[in-house]
Amino acid sequence: MAEFTLPANSKVKPGKTWKAEPGAKRVRSFSIYRWSPDDDANPRMDTYEVDLDACGPMVLDALIKIKNEIDPTLTFRRSCREGICGSCAMNIDGTNTLACLKPIEEVKATVKINPLPHMPVVKDLVPDLTQAYAQYRSVEPWMQAETAAPPDAERLQSKEERAQLDGLWECILCFCCTTSCPSYWWNGDKYLGPATLLQAYRWIADSRDEATGERLDALQDPFKLYRCHTIMNCTQTCPKGLNPAKAIASIKQKMVERQG
Ligand code: SF4
Ligand code: SF4
Ligand code: FES
Repeated sequence: MAEFTLPANSKVKPGKTWKAEPGAKRVRSFSIYRWSPDDDANPRMDTYEVDLDACGPMVLDALIKIKNEIDPTLTFRRSCREGICGSCAMNIDGTNTLACLKPIEEVKATVKINPLPHMPVVKDLVPDLTQAYAQYRSVEPWMQAETAAPPDAERLQSKEERAQLDGLWECILCFCCTTSCPSYWWNGDKYLGPATLLQAYRWIADSRDEATGERLDALQDPFKLYRCHTIMNCTQTCPKGLNPAKAIASIKQKMVERQG
């Protein structure tokens, strides 16, 4: 079997450790990825000891406490702190999830925190989502209809038509799924990835949208859609309990149906 040796600078080495305040009784260590474009240094893992008796229950609470009270240089995104904005997505204890929804108590030992995998890093825990958002924009995620809406009225749906959007509209575009997908890791410049494909299906499945044919035409491509090999990482990791793999399978099904 071939053996490969990683170059010395490819390893993320241990960094600084911040000890807990004297007298802290329920101490938990957080090992956090640190890298700044402003330093001429390799990434490192810094360790912060946090007194859980003086901290909220979620991993995001610990990150905010570290930033406010221990190390203001730690950089991460967050906004809603209740699983709605999607901005605190990161890799915690080996799984992509939302820091605001992840209880510290679910991690039994040191809480290891890294940025979402296989994305360029802007700084520390902040991934560069430029490509992911460009791909999202490429599926034209808005309603398209030539037929004029009834004057002074909404475009109506039956209960059954509306139900087709359940499991799709709840997506918060956190990209936990996309960054857990091996196909996206290797072909992310061409494969759209599960988050964007779930969003594409959200419009294909909408009875009010009249651009289904054009939407399917745009996805009829060996890379954009068909790099999904049903590995299912996406569905396992979605912190909102959604099933992007099923949405992708539904797009493929629509492709087959329209040929028949
Ligand atoms: S499908 Fe789930 S994991 Fe993927 S972007 Fe939407 S909410 Fe996040
Ligand atoms: S099911 Fe498809 S989109 Fe989901 S992780 Fe697997 S290859 Fe990626
Ligand atoms: S802070 Fe908004 S989803 Fe976590």
